[in-house]
Amino acid sequence: MADFDGRVFRNTMSQFCTGVVVATGCLNGKPAGFAAQSFVSLSLDPPLVALCPGKTSTSWPTLRDSGHFCINILASDQRAICDVMAKSGIDKFAALDWQGGVSGSPIFNGVIAYIDCALEAEHDAGDHTIAVGRVLDLAIRAPEKEPLLFFQGRYGSFASAD
Ligand SMILES: Cc1cc2nc3c(=O)[nH]c(=O)nc-3n(C[C@H](O)[C@H](O)[C@H](O)COP(=O)(O)O)c2cc1C
Repeated sequence: MADFDGRVFRNTMSQFCTGVVVATGCLNGKPAGFAAQSFVSLSLDPPLVALCPGKTSTSWPTLRDSGHFCINILASDQRAICDVMAKSGIDKFAALDWQGGVSGSPIFNGVIAYIDCALEAEHDAGDHTIAVGRVLDLAIRAPEKEPLLFFQGRYGSFASAD
C-alpha cells in the first residue's frame, strides 16, 4: 500500500515539464479532442507513439471508435486551444480553424507539428489507458514557433540555454 496521498503524487509528477498536445479524432463527421501531456514517442520501427487517455475522458471513446487519433503539438501562442480542449461537454471545434488529416482527424492551423495515427492497441493502466498509435502521417508545420509547456501546474514557453 502506497504511503502517500494523491496530492503528493500530483505535486511530485508536476515537477516533470512537458509539452502540451491535443489528441483529436473524427467519427461520422463529428470531431472530438482533448488536451493531454501524456504523449511519448515509442518506436521508430515500426513507428509507434503512445498517449494516455483518462477513463473519464468523454472524447476518447470517439477517437477509439474511429480507430485513429491525431496528435497536435501546440505552440506557445495556442493556449486558447488548450483551454478549450481541456473542457468537457462543450462544442470545442466551432470556433477553431482545422482541416482533417489522412485519418480524418482534425489538425489545427498553426500547430508546431502533427502526428496522425491508426490506433494499434489500448492497454489498461489504472484510471487511464495507454493508447498505442501507428504513425500514418506526420509533418512539422511551424518549426519557428516555441512550444507550449506545462510545469508545476503552470503554462510557459521555452528559453534556449545556449
Ligand atoms: C496540461 C494538461 C494536460 C492534460 N493531460 C491529460 C492526459 O494526458 N490525459 C487525459 O486524459 N487528460 C488530460 N488532461 C485533461 C483533459 O484535457 C480534460 O479532462 C478534458 O476535459 C477532457 O475532455 P473530454 O471529456 O472531452 O475528453 C490534461 C489537461 C491539461 C490542461
